[in-house]
Amino acid sequence: MAEIYRASTTAPVNIAVIKYWGKRDPKLNLPTNSSLSVTLSQSDLRTHTTASCSPSYPSSDSLLLNGSPQDVSGARTQACFRELRSLRKQLEDADSSLPKLSTFPLKIVSENNFPTAAGLASSAAGFAALVRAIANLYELPSSPTELSRIARQGSGSACRSLFGGYVRWEQGSTVDGSDSVAFQVAPAEHWPGMRAVILVVSAAKKGVSSTTGMQTTVATSSLFTARANETVPRRMKEMQDAIKNKDFETFGKTTMMDSNSFHATCLDTYPPIFYLNDVSRAAIKVVEQINKRAGKIIAAYTFDAGPNAVVYYEEQNEKEVAGLFKAMLGENEGWKGVRGDGVQANGESL
Ligand code: PMV
Repeated sequence: MAEIYRASTTAPVNIAVIKYWGKRDPKLNLPTNSSLSVTLSQSDLRTHTTASCSPSYPSSDSLLLNGSPQDVSGARTQACFRELRSLRKQLEDADSSLPKLSTFPLKIVSENNFPTAAGLASSAAGFAALVRAIANLYELPSSPTELSRIARQGSGSACRSLFGGYVRWEQGSTVDGSDSVAFQVAPAEHWPGMRAVILVVSAAKKGVSSTTGMQTTVATSSLFTARANETVPRRMKEMQDAIKNKDFETFGKTTMMDSNSFHATCLDTYPPIFYLNDVSRAAIKVVEQINKRAGKIIAAYTFDAGPNAVVYYEEQNEKEVAGLFKAMLGENEGWKGVRGDGVQANGESL
């Protein structure tokens, strides 16, 4: 019986406070603007992935997500497999005693502990976990930033899930995307009081995929150019300063304004894209009321390509923020207290 080689990992979801929206190269997932995210806690939202390979496996690569076989023939998954295999091959060429893992079929088994493709950044955690698990399997010496270049080709936002804490994805300027990678701005411990709650307004799959949405926005929205070229570069700087200084008022205001700006470009797209619904708008009103009552910004909402609200706040305001939402909604399973670390080695196999 031929040997089976195996490695497992978990990767967290990240939620951008400065959003990625627009591709300058759709094949390589090169963005039209830099973005910045907060990595959420893995105890709540994460993908757990086991990668294995063996000469005894059937000849083609396979991927099982939450028990269902997935198509791995798509260009994005193939790009990740190809890049990781080529890095492994370099190691094998340099050391002939290494087993030729790069030539064996891969079997990937993944589980999400949250709704897939409902605007909860499932592809971010999914591709980050896939890339990290295969990198571990192949014993690649690559840094998280190097791996972020590969994960980005699976799903743009995945490059940020290789890190914990506060993460910047540099848009880069090269044609091959070698400089479109992620860096940690600050670890989670830098701002230990940061919390987030998520209101799962809908666990249904999103109506317009982020790729289709972005392409249509870039092609038709006149607001988009100003956002990508002026607004986001300025806010990236403001946001990084706010994180450095643990200045929640600026962090919160910039987060909300960037979410509004992103959804404005969606509405300005033709045909228009509506990710927010009435419940999303009600959540915005509640956050506004909380801040009005506090006399300052203590809560900040943000929405990805779906209606679910993520609300950031500081631990000392738990009662005023999460408490109020919880009281309004009762025991809603969608609520989580989150803040977390990057990908983690995890011994358990799926
Ligand atoms: O990485 P994708 O293709 O799923 O796009 C993510 C887009 C947003 O979630 C809306 C914004 C972001 O920066 O994560």
